[in-house]
Amino acid sequence: MASQLTQIFQTVDTDIRQAAKCLRDGGLIAFPTETVYGLGANAIDDTAIAMIYDAKGRPKFNPLIVHFASLSELKAHVDWNNAAEDLAQAFWPGPLTLVLQKNVDSPISPLVSAGLDTLAVRLPAHPLAQQFLKAAGVPVAAPSANRSGKMSPTSAAHVHAGLQGRIAGILDGGDCKVGLESTILDLSTGSANLLRHGGVPLEDIEALLGREVGKTQTVPQQIKAPGQLASHYAPRAKLRLNAADVSTGECYLGFGQMECDLNLSSSGDLIEAAANLFRHLHALDAFYPKPIAVAPIPNTGLGRAINDRLRRAAAPRPTS
Ligand code: TXA
Ligand code: MG
Repeated sequence: MASQLTQIFQTVDTDIRQAAKCLRDGGLIAFPTETVYGLGANAIDDTAIAMIYDAKGRPKFNPLIVHFASLSELKAHVDWNNAAEDLAQAFWPGPLTLVLQKNVDSPISPLVSAGLDTLAVRLPAHPLAQQFLKAAGVPVAAPSANRSGKMSPTSAAHVHAGLQGRIAGILDGGDCKVGLESTILDLSTGSANLLRHGGVPLEDIEALLGREVGKTQTVPQQIKAPGQLASHYAPRAKLRLNAADVSTGECYLGFGQMECDLNLSSSGDLIEAAANLFRHLHALDAFYPKPIAVAPIPNTGLGRAINDRLRRAAAPRPTS
């Protein structure tokens, strides 16, 4: 990835507005929340989301949390329910993330939730995060602002040490108060399941809901076989990977200069390919039961995450 100048933004209005504009226009901006610093991108911009995975050097497409400035904006993207309303009233803004069914007409990039039909959403409490999100005027997808496998950053200096040269800017809001990621609760299935311990204690959530919360559901990246998680999007069509050419009766998902039905990136750009991956798989799956042949993808940079996702999508399915 080409090195870029990473600009440091301070907590003055002009800086916040400039950082927000940069994010809206497709740049990656790290910003403080009360938990840890997030690496923010415009959640409706496929390419910006692909750049997050690239900057972090993530070998997989883990789904990302989307951050909002207000509850009304947030609600427009998910299938809201009573438990969510109670939890929102009690703990938002704050270090709680809720996983809900994504509204079908939400413009949020499918790469944000790695092809899942759910969306993780949160309303952070940090005043600077709120100002920044409001100025951005778009939903902001943000994982913790660290390189993959490294510790979550709780200061602008941590972010700078890990990501300088790889992102457009850092909004410096000093040290994070909580210093530990948000609690993640899955409400997408009708019951409540804890996916990650974090800033809001489990006891407080159970006290509010008046019942025990399930702890059985694993987070998607721990699930090995696709299809094990009911809501996980795997195409219905059979996938044939590393296909140098296409056979009769197959759809062809291409990469680089070639004849094909859809091309992940005709110029061979892995960021563009990642941005298109879930959208194109979805589009070709409309021709089910036609199998999908997928051209070889170089196993470098974002190619590793693309190949990881393709292998999962191609693995044998449990019979249902
Ligand atoms: O405190 C936090 O949550 C911080 C700040 C920046 O908001 N963010 C953060 O993001 O910790 P990250 O990417 O490091 O962790 C996000 C977690 C992952 O474990 C991911 O699997 C889970 O959220 N997640 C996101 N979307 C999900 C979904 N649709 N279903 C289940 N889990 C999801
Ligand atoms: Mg993280």
